[in-house]
Amino acid sequence: MKMLPRALSGIKPTGMPHLGNYLGMIKPALKLQETHETFYFIADYHALTTQPDPQKLRSHTYDLVATFVALGMDIEKHTLFKQSDIPEVTELTWLLSCVTPKGLLERAHAYKDAIAKNIDANHGLFSYPALMAADILIYDSDYVPVGKDQKQHLEITRDIASRFNHIYGDTLVIPEPVIAPEVATIPGLDGQKMSKSYNNTIPLFLPEKKLRKLIMKIVTDSKSVDDPKDPNTCNVFSLFKFFATPEEHLLLSNQYQAGGLGYGEAKQICFEVINRELKTARNTYFSIRSDEEKLNQILRQGCNKAKKIAQEVLDRTRMKVGL
Ligand code: ADP
Ligand code: TRP
Repeated sequence: MKMLPRALSGIKPTGMPHLGNYLGMIKPALKLQETHETFYFIADYHALTTQPDPQKLRSHTYDLVATFVALGMDIEKHTLFKQSDIPEVTELTWLLSCVTPKGLLERAHAYKDAIAKNIDANHGLFSYPALMAADILIYDSDYVPVGKDQKQHLEITRDIASRFNHIYGDTLVIPEPVIAPEVATIPGLDGQKMSKSYNNTIPLFLPEKKLRKLIMKIVTDSKSVDDPKDPNTCNVFSLFKFFATPEEHLLLSNQYQAGGLGYGEAKQICFEVINRELKTARNTYFSIRSDEEKLNQILRQGCNKAKKIAQEVLDRTRMKVGL
């Protein structure tokens, strides 16, 4: 029985997590620990849709486990697990696939983009949203914290669950997305959306010197030190504002508009506020990341908790369809 509303989310182990993942998903998701029962998982089945290298897949899975723990996921009260440790989810995917109109999947962005780019999409990529729906529905999730780009996937999930319930009677919980409007899309070094696919990311946990060096590479316009600058269109400021206190935000905004502050100095200030927020977690990250046995044990613990619920929901669903 649920004592608190249940939040669930997943992230693919396709690279080192970056500041976009942190601000758009990981940080708001971890905040929900105070008021929700939370289930967060590493979406390794989903990562296979883009066929990563097996060794990198394993290593990035550990990176993410260590990241969630370092940022304060309480693994005693909450559940951190690996998607593929619960293969029940693939069976639910099949049951859902049989009520999912093909047109719904054809309209999904990831598949449409692949087709537009003439990429020979595999079946996994095509049915990605059905697996994602199963991920969410198999834990009777109430809320799903994600970045804005996942909104369509949540709509598809709700649509599939409603269809299933309509055909077989009330079975699946219809989830709500939780999307922080103020962090809609975090820009990368070049001002486009920060994304592993654009090679413009600032990894979340970098040794201090490397972090500073990367922040110095953020693209700006060519205004001189004395020129007044617009904080609203500056890539440095758009990152800074997520880490600054309201006073720091106001102060730097005024300095931009007054002129007399160069981008080099603004970048140094930006580095300082980011570094302040991540310093402690970074130290914890590097110490636990090296202990893979401990990380395996965390995953085993999460798997035991997640499996119980997944089996219950799958049994309920199998029964409804007549299996
Ligand atoms: P990437 O685009 O780098 O491959 P993922 O697709 O793995 O990132 O995203 C994992 C989570 O992080 C998702 O919930 C996604 O919405 C969020 N996210 C990724 N990039 C950003 C960004 N630039 N701004 C806000 N949220 C983001
Ligand atoms: N599609 C999500 C992403 O690319 C990852 C994901 C897989 C997910 N299953 C999920 C997110 C279930 C939330 C809930 O970021």
